[in-house]
Amino acid sequence: MCRDMLERAEELKIRGADVLEVGAGCGVAGFLAARLGAKSVTFTDYLPGVLANLRASVAINEANAPMNDPDRSSPCAFSVRHLEWLSAVPGLVEKTKRVGGGDGSACAFADAAAAAAAAAADALDPRATFKLILGSDVCYEDPLPLALARTLKARLAPGGLAWLVLPVRDWPGENGMTTIERLRDECVESGLRAVVERAPDLEEHEYDGGTMVKHDGGMVHVWIRA
Ligand SMILES: C[S@@+](CC[C@H](N)C(=O)[O-])C[C@H]1O[C@@H](n2cnc3c(N)ncnc32)[C@H](O)[C@@H]1O
Repeated sequence: MCRDMLERAEELKIRGADVLEVGAGCGVAGFLAARLGAKSVTFTDYLPGVLANLRASVAINEANAPMNDPDRSSPCAFSVRHLEWLSAVPGLVEKTKRVGGGDGSACAFADAAAAAAAAAADALDPRATFKLILGSDVCYEDPLPLALARTLKARLAPGGLAWLVLPVRDWPGENGMTTIERLRDECVESGLRAVVERAPDLEEHEYDGGTMVKHDGGMVHVWIRA
């Protein structure tokens, strides 16, 4: 995604944009968008440990603000917010079983109530919408296609674009491409336009010694427009 972003920065209109990253993980896509001139980057995830790590990374980047873009007059404004895609569908959080700690309660909080309170305190403003949304490797199992589609519908500003780059990976009991096609269909159902397109895979040597796992299904772009 990052290599592609370098090539497509103008087409994506990153310079001056307010960017939302969903399922940010360590936030590499968002930090590159900042480097490419985004006015602001809002990193989101649902796991408290991931959000804490993002805050630490933001502090390091802010301390090195000039490094972000030598040509800009003011540094990129970063923020880190809780955004749980399942919450976009009434009742889905309650009925979705997650592995131990998968709801975030077990990794940073004594109980689920404390985790919920922290999430509410950090929540992304429910009215906030964005012209550019980025997501890397964010759709691989049920019920993410439905939840992510509804989240994008709620968060895309009129005329906005969500660009997802997804490895086509099978998951226990799920076929990778079927999951991605379900995401596309859920987006269309939600009133968005969505196109799935093959993306170039990494070169063989780029997998060597890194943490990236090569998937037989390759990679796709999903372009979603409001
Ligand atoms: C496979 S990781 C990808 C992380 C990062 N974007 C990358 O490419 O390295 C998926 C990310 O999506 C987040 N995620 C998964 N389910 C989510 C949900 N229901 N709501 C919000 N974030 C979710 C995970 O916490 C994780 O950070």
